[in-house]
Amino acid sequence: MMKLRSVGIIGTGKYVPERVLTNAELETMVETNDEWIVSRTGIRERHIAAPNQATSDLAYEAAVQALKSAGLAAEDLELIIVATVTPDMTFPSTACILQEKLGAKKAAAFDLSAACSGFVYSLATAKGFIQTGMYNNALIIGADALSRITDYTDRNTCVLFGDGAGAVVVGEVPEGRGFLSFDLGAEGAGGELLKLEGGGSRCPASEETVRDGKHFIYMNGREVFKFAVRVMGTATEEVLRKAGKDKSEIDLFVPHQANIRIIQSAMQRLDLPEEKCVINVDKYANTSAASIPLALVEAVEEGRVKEGDTLLLVGFGGGLTWGASVLVW
Ligand code: UT7
Repeated sequence: MMKLRSVGIIGTGKYVPERVLTNAELETMVETNDEWIVSRTGIRERHIAAPNQATSDLAYEAAVQALKSAGLAAEDLELIIVATVTPDMTFPSTACILQEKLGAKKAAAFDLSAACSGFVYSLATAKGFIQTGMYNNALIIGADALSRITDYTDRNTCVLFGDGAGAVVVGEVPEGRGFLSFDLGAEGAGGELLKLEGGGSRCPASEETVRDGKHFIYMNGREVFKFAVRVMGTATEEVLRKAGKDKSEIDLFVPHQANIRIIQSAMQRLDLPEEKCVINVDKYANTSAASIPLALVEAVEEGRVKEGDTLLLVGFGGGLTWGASVLVW
């Protein structure tokens, strides 16, 4: 039988746009207040893309750093996957736009749509390609500019989202290192709870769709919250079981940054102290596919990840979807 290669992360990068939107500023835009936002979500500020910055521009900045830290030239890249729900345009894919910007001429390129779970779904996809030898490396980017699809007159959603990008290079690593397990899942029945209807083939863009706000995110926050707490629990248990690890062996927990209360409920279930959990929802809010890589890369940059550490990544989002992974750094 063919021996499968071990696959892990060999380079990291991240980018957030300069412009910061604070809770105080949101107070001047909708009927909300800093106390409500902080106590219900943990968010204090978020970064917003400049008018001339699209998702591929955010992705590019993170990608350049990740390639540099992996010591890999763009020409040697073999695969690019961009996880996003805010592509530059319907097609070509943001990954193809990025391929051209990077000069990654040899690389196959495609986008992956799994909302906030997209980064973990993309890691699993890349692992499959690399462990079987079809490709030797891949650039995986979670990038979203949710500000472009957020209704800044809707207080239920506009306080929650931000823009950013996180990137990793994935390649072969020594045996015993890298991704040990994945748990991916979907509950299409809950798709109605979190969606953007306008502009697709069922509801093409028209004056009416614009008037009805169908080009903005719609979310039933309470129901998504319940789903999130449930699957953060079940997915972490399942992915630990598949990896043959106990929750006490987790050195760093890297959850999707949507709401501090959802993160805290997962930490309780895993008996994890705060120093073993990455939390940056206060600075960046929910950046969708960028959220987990932004948290991971920030932890790496802060020196919180050592060789041999066991990490657990877990996210949930539109679809509905979830994705979790256990990896050894
Ligand atoms: O990446 C995955 C995507 N989404 C998520 O993870 C979101 C999951 N859901 C959540 O994080 C929470 O449900 C929210 C933060 C969205 C809402 O928190 P909640 O504790 O579930 O609040 P709620 O929806 O039960 O609303 C409580 C009250 C409502 O007023 P009434 O109906 O009780 O009078 C809202 O109208 O808070 C009101 N409210 C606000 N008040 C001030 C909602 N948004 C705001 C706001 N400022 N921005």
